[in-house]
Amino acid sequence: MKTISIINLKGGVAKTISSVNIAHILATVHGKKVLIIDNDKQGNTSKFFGACGENIYKSMADILTEKDIKISEAIYKTKYENLDIIPATMALLKANLDVMLDMSRPQQTRLSKALYQIEDVYDYCIIDNAPDINISVINALVTSDDVLIPIKVDKFAFDGLDLLVEQIENVREINPNIKLQACFLTMYQKNNVNTQGDEWIRAQPDYPMLDSKIRKTVKVDESTFAQKPLLEYAKNCTATKDYLELVKEILEES
Ligand SMILES: Nc1ncnc2c1ncn2[C@@H]1O[C@H](COP(=O)(O)OP(=O)(O)OP(=O)(O)O)[C@@H](O)[C@H]1O
Ligand SMILES: [Mg+2]
Repeated sequence: MKTISIINLKGGVAKTISSVNIAHILATVHGKKVLIIDNDKQGNTSKFFGACGENIYKSMADILTEKDIKISEAIYKTKYENLDIIPATMALLKANLDVMLDMSRPQQTRLSKALYQIEDVYDYCIIDNAPDINISVINALVTSDDVLIPIKVDKFAFDGLDLLVEQIENVREINPNIKLQACFLTMYQKNNVNTQGDEWIRAQPDYPMLDSKIRKTVKVDESTFAQKPLLEYAKNCTATKDYLELVKEILEES
């Protein structure tokens, strides 16, 4: 199983939209067996796939806090072939605190230990992270082979990128496999700000960039209301085409 964390310390840069659509395309277009993990207490990815409310018995919070958890108890089928989910609920907020208080066993390797149980079941695990560095995000990095950073170009777009790269380096002590696979631009529009942002980041050696950019379209907002991945909701829209290309690039690079 190859594990990819989608992460950026900034909020609202399309981490969730990217996670949902990358996972859905890997599963339905490329026939990969995919597990998507919602690692954000907001639970947006979970809601996308209807893994929320009373249907949920165990979730990401239990994986972090329960000793010897059977991970299968926290995995739910989605309605899409080859695509399962570990959801998150608000319980993840308390779980983050509980892990920090519980020093009786290692705090940073709980997710990776649990995922080891299903190492051979899935081809890909995609983790949608919160815009934060908390212990659940550290757990995600510790278990990730690759890191993908979605970037939305605005005045503050590059704030915190250096901090994120530093965190990835820190995690390397426990997880020597971790690699910043690439950054990619989201909500891209043809205007001066986006062109200049694109040029700036492509000139930075520390931040490898994918060629694919995800264009801005109202169809993405609409897909969140419909709670459908883009390929289901608007198969011919620009962002759908862009995510299809992006996934091809990810597969070529890995
Ligand atoms: N390509 C796009 N075109 C237009 N709107 C987009 C696009 N991608 C994402 N959005 C919109 O931007 C908003 C933020 O997206 P998303 O929830 O994926 O960001 P996030 O990084 O996961 O946010 P958070 O940090 O809160 O978890 C959403 O309303 C989404 O519909
Ligand atoms: Mg999100």
